[in-house]
Amino acid sequence: MIREQPTTESAISINHLTVSYGPVPALLDVTVDIPKGKLVGIIGPNGSGKSTLIKAMLGFVKPDLGEVRIFGREAAAAKGMVAYVPQRGAVDWDFPITVREVATMGRYGHRRWWQDMSRRDLQIADQALAKVRMTEFASRQIGQLSGGQQQRVFLARALAQDAEILLLDEPFSGVDAATENAILEVLRETRQQGRTLCVVHHDLSTAAEYFDYLILLKQRMFGFGTPEQILEPQLLCDVYEGNMKVFAELSGTRSAGDRSP
Ligand SMILES: Nc1ncnc2c1ncn2[C@@H]1O[C@H](COP(=O)(O)OP(=O)(O)O)[C@@H](O)[C@H]1O
Ligand SMILES: [Mg+2]
Repeated sequence: MIREQPTTESAISINHLTVSYGPVPALLDVTVDIPKGKLVGIIGPNGSGKSTLIKAMLGFVKPDLGEVRIFGREAAAAKGMVAYVPQRGAVDWDFPITVREVATMGRYGHRRWWQDMSRRDLQIADQALAKVRMTEFASRQIGQLSGGQQQRVFLARALAQDAEILLLDEPFSGVDAATENAILEVLRETRQQGRTLCVVHHDLSTAAEYFDYLILLKQRMFGFGTPEQILEPQLLCDVYEGNMKVFAELSGTRSAGDRSP
């Protein structure tokens, strides 16, 4: 297994993490240290436990074994430090709420339940909407947006949280090229502020360009390292079991070797 030794402070420490929903573990004995201030991609085939890893970092699922620590604290105790953009399919888009209301939800964690939003909170929410270029849609119901616009609004909510760590589950899935670039730009700006980002990503052809490090997952950790270390034909072949689409995607960026179907 490839394991990069991070030289900087670690933001997220995952130790021997095992999570299961039924008899078969979704994650098995995953150990990785995610350095602070980096943009980290989580890759692996469908059902490989990528979303489960994100949920474990959020303290949403309880480990069978092992633990996740956020800047040294238990995940469940560090919720305010972590913002989350869920997979689009996991959100009820018929819920009657406007774009501005979604962004404002990012500020709830900064208020007590009896406190109203301050003018400052609303300002921060509006700034987040501006950053993802959704200001003109502020009064629109979220159900009336395109997929890419919905993704931007949830990114705005996460930005408004002002959290040290951002976790995004397939933010580029089903969005157009303009939205993909807009989201990427915001992620890079957020990294520039010293924040740590983990992003579930399915397009291997852009993985090397987008991320500082990659986590390769299929129930177990198959590797953590730079894109150059992880996007190795043999390693990918083991994990994706020779899935030709994966190698076709990669052939634009580097040679995947000679693989007959
Ligand atoms: N709520 C759940 N109940 C039962 N099984 C689940 C649940 N969520 C995920 N799983 C199973 O756990 C495994 C990992 O799922 P997931 O983390 O969603 O993978 P990925 O995001 O990589 O596609 C899959 O086999 C999936 O069917
Ligand atoms: Mg998933």
